[in-house]
Amino acid sequence: MDKIKKLIAKKNKTKIVSLTAYSKNVASILDQHCDIILVGDSLGSVLYDYKSTREVSLNMMIEHSKSVRKGIKNSLMVVDMPYNTYRNPKEALRNAKKIILKTKCDAVKLEGGKKIYKSIQTLIKNKIPVMGHLGLLPQSDKSFKFKGKKKLERESILKDAKLLEKAGVFSIVLECVETSLAKLVSSKINIPTIGIGASNNCDGQILVFDDLIGLNPINARFIKKYANIRKQIKKAVSNYSKEVRKVQFPSKKYSY
Ligand code: KIV
Repeated sequence: MDKIKKLIAKKNKTKIVSLTAYSKNVASILDQHCDIILVGDSLGSVLYDYKSTREVSLNMMIEHSKSVRKGIKNSLMVVDMPYNTYRNPKEALRNAKKIILKTKCDAVKLEGGKKIYKSIQTLIKNKIPVMGHLGLLPQSDKSFKFKGKKKLERESILKDAKLLEKAGVFSIVLECVETSLAKLVSSKINIPTIGIGASNNCDGQILVFDDLIGLNPINARFIKKYANIRKQIKKAVSNYSKEVRKVQFPSKKYSY
């Protein structure tokens, strides 16, 4: 069974584990624990301090993905298509082909539903596996508030999820979606939903790795920090700087 079929078969059986990675060293650690590794365009804000993921270019995604590819042996590798690279089917196909060719990733992820249906359909018809992304869409959202409070919003997210399934996506990220809506969407489609800030009613979870280890100094309700890496880095760097200043490093052991 190929990786994508295996992933879909996990629905209603076992939860899917997913994280973002932007480089080889991190990817090689995550690979032992994750079903999916996403090279997310969140790298724009996390690594480059951009105000929005809209500033991320195709080239940036390709270069980071080439590094990540070197760290992955088992997980399914998905790459985000950045803003303005899939405005119509022709543009989407040209750029998705470029991403697949240059990075050797397994799939691409696009944000949106009905508006990008034709682009998604075109990629899938051309044998490019696609992951969907609904709920809060960082490339186009203005309010950055969780989704699913209003009836119309709930209906539109559910409708989009069914539409994406019909187009042939193998999974859908649900970002910042209210608990009961995440449950409803997950129960109405036959492909896995991967939640971020969307409760444990999804078929799997994804987090931004730098948030999970406490490297990215942000706080949000949905982020659980499993480590405080900033503290550990501070300690290591402080020890190094003390030793250099006291001429304790490099000692004989570290010299030729
Ligand atoms: O860009 C990203 O990292 C993402 C995840 C948060 C799902 O899209």
